[in-house]
Amino acid sequence: MSLNLMVLLLLVSLNMLSCDELKEEKKALLVIRDSLSSSANLHENWTDSPCIGNQSRWKGIICSNWHVVQIILEDFNLRGSLPSTCLQKVPFLKHLNLGNNSVLGLLPNLTNLVFLEQVLLSYNHFSGPIPLEYAHGLPNLKVLELQENYLDGQIPSFDQPALTSFNVSYNHLWGTIPETSALQRFSDSSFDNNSDLCGKSLDKLCPSSPPAGPSSAPYPSVIPQGSAAAKHEHIDQVRVIVLIVASGAILLLVIISIFLVYNKGGILLELGQET
Ligand SMILES: *[C@@H]1O[C@H](CO)[C@@H](O)[C@H](O)[C@H]1NC(C)=O
Ligand SMILES: *[C@@H]1O[C@H](CO)[C@@H](O)[C@H](O)[C@H]1NC(C)=O
Ligand SMILES: *[C@@H]1O[C@H](CO)[C@@H](O)[C@H](O)[C@H]1NC(C)=O
Ligand SMILES: *[C@@H]1O[C@H](CO)[C@@H](O)[C@H](O)[C@H]1NC(C)=O
Ligand SMILES: *[C@@H]1O[C@H](CO)[C@@H](O)[C@H](O)[C@H]1NC(C)=O
Ligand SMILES: *[C@@H]1O[C@H](CO)[C@@H](O)[C@H](O)[C@H]1NC(C)=O
Repeated sequence: MSLNLMVLLLLVSLNMLSCDELKEEKKALLVIRDSLSSSANLHENWTDSPCIGNQSRWKGIICSNWHVVQIILEDFNLRGSLPSTCLQKVPFLKHLNLGNNSVLGLLPNLTNLVFLEQVLLSYNHFSGPIPLEYAHGLPNLKVLELQENYLDGQIPSFDQPALTSFNVSYNHLWGTIPETSALQRFSDSSFDNNSDLCGKSLDKLCPSSPPAGPSSAPYPSVIPQGSAAAKHEHIDQVRVIVLIVASGAILLLVIISIFLVYNKGGILLELGQET
């Protein structure tokens, strides 16, 4: 009966794991579409090609010269977790705005998106650290809004010359705010309401000696201490378990279907013998 459907579901769940193998930006966007639910019915709207020259018929997508350059899905009631490597496959992306949704999980990996100027991911449910690549791999970053999420760890040393708007308030960040010239442009309200931030920008001095420990540096290190890797590993484990359980369930259903078909045949045979 619905064996096709099951195989399809299995393929979809495999496909949703990541965009690692994908080359085309369209396919990567479709993986994002299928990973998130939204009130905007993207599933029906994001069909055919995202770009027709400089035009797009996809909600929230803006194109230039056959490439997606803006993804603006603010207030779309997006739910679910964003597959971390999909946006990397949209190489000309300039503006990313997923603000005011309910997106879960780690912040997306934006490595190699050298044209990116605006990253607005505030008012969501993102957790985990701010990736170091946001500070060191996005040379043209002008606006970074991450406020009102559940981010933890320390703030990387952002020092992009063009960075003119920055907000990480209302998260669970801690440690020293790096004294880069870019970060010193921002006032308290960019950093407020975190777990335990200190530094010049906040007028809150950091303790001059770190908590005792054999391997601690003179100042708290900027590199998140393994928590990112640990969470990644955890997510991978969860995915593997989900896949195994799903495959097991499908196999069981197939066996039950076969059994039912055979058994029905058996009953019919018996009935035929009785009459
Ligand atoms: C998607 O929605 C927009 C805005 O409602 C509409 O203009 C566009 O034609 C739709 N695209 C498709 C492929 O249906
Ligand atoms: C897109 O617009 C630019 C100017 O904004 C123009 O130079 C270019 O030719 C257009 N490309 C297409 C495919 O229409
Ligand atoms: C977020 O979206 C809701 C509706 O979905 C709206 O009422 C609210 O004002 C928005 N908040 C911000 C901060 O944009
Ligand atoms: C982000 O992607 C790049 C390139 O694909 C990879 O080298 C890097 O390890 C990734 N970062 C994280 C935090 O996974
Ligand atoms: C940062 O975001 C918080 C929370 O939304 C807001 O109250 C504050 O005014 C913002 N600060 C700046 C500099 O944008
Ligand atoms: C946010 O931080 C400010 C300044 O530290 C404090 O006055 C305020 O009560 C905090 N708000 C919340 C919701 O925690």
